Amino acid sequence: MKIRTDVPDIDWGKIPFGYIKTDYNVRCTFKDGEWGEIEVSDSEMLNLHMAATTLHYGQEIFEGQKAFRGVDGKVRVFRPEENADRLARSARGIVMEPVPKDLFIKMIDEVVRLNQRFIPPTESGSSLYLRPLEIGTSAKVGVQPANEYLFLIFATPVGPYFPAGFKPTQVVVYREYDRAAPCGTWRWKIGGNYAGSLAATMRAKSEGYSAVLFLDPKEKKYIDECGPANFFAIKGNKYITPKSNSILPSITNMSMQQIARDMGLEVECRPILLEELAEVDEAAECGTAAVASPLSEVYDHDNDVHYVISRDGNPGPVTTELYNRLRAIQYGAAPDIHGWMHEVEL
Ligand code: PLP
Ligand code: COI
Repeated sequence: MKIRTDVPDIDWGKIPFGYIKTDYNVRCTFKDGEWGEIEVSDSEMLNLHMAATTLHYGQEIFEGQKAFRGVDGKVRVFRPEENADRLARSARGIVMEPVPKDLFIKMIDEVVRLNQRFIPPTESGSSLYLRPLEIGTSAKVGVQPANEYLFLIFATPVGPYFPAGFKPTQVVVYREYDRAAPCGTWRWKIGGNYAGSLAATMRAKSEGYSAVLFLDPKEKKYIDECGPANFFAIKGNKYITPKSNSILPSITNMSMQQIARDMGLEVECRPILLEELAEVDEAAECGTAAVASPLSEVYDHDNDVHYVISRDGNPGPVTTELYNRLRAIQYGAAPDIHGWMHEVEL
């Protein structure tokens, strides 16, 4: 496959978190009990049976991760083994065929290599977002899992998830939406979860908030997570993040906890009462897309309570340091002391 090297006409520092067509995607199918050869496609389309289990019974799982062009010119992907593990957990969660880790990593390398002209320059602060997804493709009408699967990875250059970039935003709590069930599917990254969050999210956006801060589904007392990201707060010398079985285990949060420890902070992973927000110094949402997005205010819609987090409208110093340290590792500007970065040979 011919790798193009001409530079695309893209204003790298101004791109949103959206879809931009790149040159190739990579695909692999599971059929007759085994994974086939990796295929490279320049089509954005799928040829799918109308009775495929992904369309009817929601057999769809995905991941999100990023490749960065480092200050030294090398290209690195952030913790792809963790995404491979989570995709395999998601697969088992909804009875799909797990993608072997070595296949996953090989396809990550391939999609980055093939689309290298779309990896944004370091100084733009943008990156190449990788979206691995797996779907059940067998035609079934009874409720049952497929026996054939398609695993695909596409790449698209992205800028910040929130248009304002690293600026505090307001989020809102509504108790009338249940995003997750305690033993339900939010532990896994499946498309159906996001369908279930759309109504609350669209309402929040129309009312001027960047996201919904969801509470635990049982008691509606504890903080779970923000729409597409985990939550953390800083209180004194502590990094506090929810312990809950109805949130997605975030690779960014896991990494932030390590960076917090590196900075000498104590990490507390425990249920966090919404009311505790009155006493925190800083709060943020974190994820691959969101990186660390500080919160200026959490509005409890049902009780009309405003938890003001940032009085001056600026990100707090600890969140800023966490963000800067993570970005420095990702862009190769700081030593990768935890061995998180996976270099891709171009
Ligand atoms: N929580 C939800 C619901 C998400 O969609 C994401 C995004 O992947 C995250 C948390 C953050 O996870 P990660 O840091 O692994 O991207
Ligand atoms: C990510 O952070 O990669 C996500 O998947 C969040 C969202 C865009 C679905």
